[in-house]
Amino acid sequence: MCGIIGIVGRSPVQDRLIESLKRLEYRGYDSAGIAVYGPNGVARCRASGKIRALESKLSEHPLEGTIGIGHTRWATHGGPTEANAHPHRVGRVSLVHNGIIENYAELKAELATKGAIFESETDTEVIAHVLNAALEAGLAPLDALKATLDKLTGAFALAVLIEGEDSLMLGARRGSPLVVGYGDGEMFLGSDALAVGPFTSKIAYLDEGDFVAIDHTTARIFNSEGHPVTRQIRIVAASAALVEKGNYRHFMEKEIHDQPESCGHTLSAYLNPVTGKAILPPGLDFAKITRLQIVACGTAYYAGLIGRYLFESIARLPVDIDVASEFRYREPPVTPGTLAMVISQSGETADTLAGLRWCKSQGMVTAALVNVHESTMAREADIVLPTHAGPEIGVASTKAFTSQVAALTALAIAAGVARGHVSPDDELHLTRVLLESPRLISAAFQMEDAIRSLAPELAKARDVLYFGRGSMSALALEGALKLKEISYIHAEGYAAGELKHGPIALIDESTPVIVIAPSGPLFEKTMSNMSEVMARGGPIILITDAAGGRQAPAGIKVLIAPDCDALVAPLVFSVPIQMLAYYVAVQKGADVDQPRNLAKSVTVE
Ligand code: G6P
Repeated sequence: MCGIIGIVGRSPVQDRLIESLKRLEYRGYDSAGIAVYGPNGVARCRASGKIRALESKLSEHPLEGTIGIGHTRWATHGGPTEANAHPHRVGRVSLVHNGIIENYAELKAELATKGAIFESETDTEVIAHVLNAALEAGLAPLDALKATLDKLTGAFALAVLIEGEDSLMLGARRGSPLVVGYGDGEMFLGSDALAVGPFTSKIAYLDEGDFVAIDHTTARIFNSEGHPVTRQIRIVAASAALVEKGNYRHFMEKEIHDQPESCGHTLSAYLNPVTGKAILPPGLDFAKITRLQIVACGTAYYAGLIGRYLFESIARLPVDIDVASEFRYREPPVTPGTLAMVISQSGETADTLAGLRWCKSQGMVTAALVNVHESTMAREADIVLPTHAGPEIGVASTKAFTSQVAALTALAIAAGVARGHVSPDDELHLTRVLLESPRLISAAFQMEDAIRSLAPELAKARDVLYFGRGSMSALALEGALKLKEISYIHAEGYAAGELKHGPIALIDESTPVIVIAPSGPLFEKTMSNMSEVMARGGPIILITDAAGGRQAPAGIKVLIAPDCDALVAPLVFSVPIQMLAYYVAVQKGADVDQPRNLAKSVTVE
């Protein structure tokens, strides 16, 4: 999974390709490259590492020309070297690719028998060979592209330049997204609306299997059978301006602080503050739903785990939840009345999208809880459930997560009302409590100094364990994920009761344990588990509220979160676990916003 951009322009493209790649860096940052059709044909420049490495190479050897393609890579086949960086070039063909060609080994072997020499370890280079061979066999560019696509299995979005075709760019999509941008005497291809945002807001999303030829003014789009098709041109609101960090050191820090606003915005789409009623999008009738199937990856999956607690306890609605990468293999029997809900910040995660498509193929009604409202999931699901977190740039999700949890809480209340488990008075009470959450999230920022002061000690740990009970066990998983992804400290989250079934063997004086335990019915049992850890010498950080703090034993570190209702505790307690991970990563000097090996949007299975 990677980001791609293509420009058939009227003015020099090098800087514009770079500008766009910076907007796409969330899709990967292992290497970057561009190819530009200049006066002497197609020239390319590639660099391993982030886009600034490419920029510095280009500053010494700029590429001239008004038509070009660019790529930022998240390595799948072959390490993050310059040789494996895109664009790949074979004969007349230069191309960039997002996705995975599953039959590349077979194609590579076949090409090798015909004398093809490979310069990289990538699956992508194989596409360039197949396409170039088709051109050499005498096929016209579009026919050669169609013949190539017919040979590929797997997922791809492509942008292609062909030597000798100086105002033509080819593109194709299967599995990975690709948009066509319509400018003024200029045309664009990009992985998403954000990529072409600085140049145009007029875009068409290609459908699955489409391929396209663009020149300065037109896009000729064809479906997988090669028949000409038209795809709706929409005006999208992807802002031309890059999102800025403002006074914050990192996007993650900013995004943690954005949460009162992002949760508030999200809630305003689901709750009417005047009537105290939950609002549902058209087409969603919880009275007709007998079971909920949630499918998601990563942090979105943990939001779903919290959602399960909420839907089952508030609405008495049975919920199944699966990580998307495993969901289909379970072959779950489909029960009539099931609503399939995918949860995704990007709306593009390949496994989650595959889960959504599987649910559709089984005849389920589908809903997509997404932050990118024009994403593939939003376009393919029957019902769109938007979160309004705004663009999230830090790879480690923060405000998208709490917005998902806020939306799920509101939806659980709505489901409770529709299913007759929440009375009008209770609805009013619950929505009031939920509408308080932005204020309580703000209040949790007061924990910041105390959290920062714990970071130097925690940063020395090799392993950290998190535990909690109820919905706090999901937050333990999310806390551990946050810490490991940005600080590279090994961390695991557990349901508190599971500790004694294995993880307790890991506890010693050098293994900090983070206990997430607001006061309430589960507090005492969690404290017993905490005592088991203390008895084995494990240093403890207890995150609780004032009442919990009063009951905390001596000798442990305690962080006091604002007092809050259990309904909104997952939102409020998210703040300290995010800040803890953030300050530990800063302490370690890690690249907080772009941690190694990760990418924000994972568009390969
Ligand atoms: C990647 C990101 C995570 C995110 C996950 C799911 O792994 O690094 O932060 O939670 O993908 O992404 P989605 O866009 O589907 O929420």
